[in-house]
Amino acid sequence: MEYTLITGACGGIGTAFSEILAARKTALYLTGRSAERLQALADRLRETYAVAVRTFVCDLRNEGGRMSLFRDAEAHGIAFSRLVYVAGVDTQMAFAKYTEEKIVWQCRANFEGAVSLMRGVLARAENAEILAVGSMSATVPMPYFALYSATKKALEHFCAALRAEYKGRAKITCVLPGSVPTREDIKENIRAHGFFGRISAVPPERVARAALKAVAHNRRKKIVGGWNRVLCFFSALAPMPLKQSVVRRMWKRTEKDYYRE
Ligand SMILES: NC(=O)c1ccc[n+]([C@@H]2O[C@H](COP(=O)([O-])OP(=O)(O)OC[C@H]3O[C@@H](n4cnc5c(N)ncnc54)[C@H](OP(=O)(O)O)[C@@H]3O)[C@@H](O)[C@H]2O)c1
Repeated sequence: MEYTLITGACGGIGTAFSEILAARKTALYLTGRSAERLQALADRLRETYAVAVRTFVCDLRNEGGRMSLFRDAEAHGIAFSRLVYVAGVDTQMAFAKYTEEKIVWQCRANFEGAVSLMRGVLARAENAEILAVGSMSATVPMPYFALYSATKKALEHFCAALRAEYKGRAKITCVLPGSVPTREDIKENIRAHGFFGRISAVPPERVARAALKAVAHNRRKKIVGGWNRVLCFFSALAPMPLKQSVVRRMWKRTEKDYYRE
């Protein structure tokens, strides 16, 4: 039976993807780090939509965990026809405040885990759909959000290159959300950025729908929201020192740190 593998399923955007796909009667293989939260989400989706849902606890920083995920799927006769890689960690603060753990987690969850799961799915499936959740933060190197924006840029570039390798054999899309009001600290951050924070914010359900449509049409990337598309267009024309000066001033005002064991 063909399943969609969703990472970060219990997060704000991951839950939106899970809900939309379950409503379309897609069999789901949900991963996350908390067995209880995964179980609660799976129970709710099975009950509401009568779909097949399997869960697997996996810390995507861990190579062994990622390999066990594919062993578990194979042992249960599950083939993946779609990967939705949502998991990610966003730390926004001065780099001087970073610890080694914050660096490792962000690099592994945002990039290494995605590359690894893409290999795992593409090696096992013909005509798979690969959808990676990047970020608009990838469109400019961002002071005070430097590592996050760099990992998301790496993800976007990787997806774009892979599309060429897998032309005609897989659909590969990177979606670039702007602000998405999911966790409380992100909502606070949106409020702190005032008018521009508000107009760039797009609800998680809208991001998920637009992303699924984009991968079905095999688009290279998708920026969600009219204002965000305008912003990206003009940002591409603006000189780098100007962009960095604006970002530096705005982003040093706030901090957010997902890091927790
Ligand atoms: N919200 C925004 O404004 C926004 C904007 C642009 C892009 N994005 C991207 O969208 C994605 C989801 O964001 P969100 O707002 O939904 O955040 P979220 O609610 O914090 O969800 C993040 C998810 O990633 C999972 N995760 C983190 N580290 C992991 C690890 N090592 N192993 C396995 N799972 C891990 C988390 O699982 P646990 O809860 O178990 O840790 C959580 O389910 C992220 O990639 C983020 O960078 C978000």
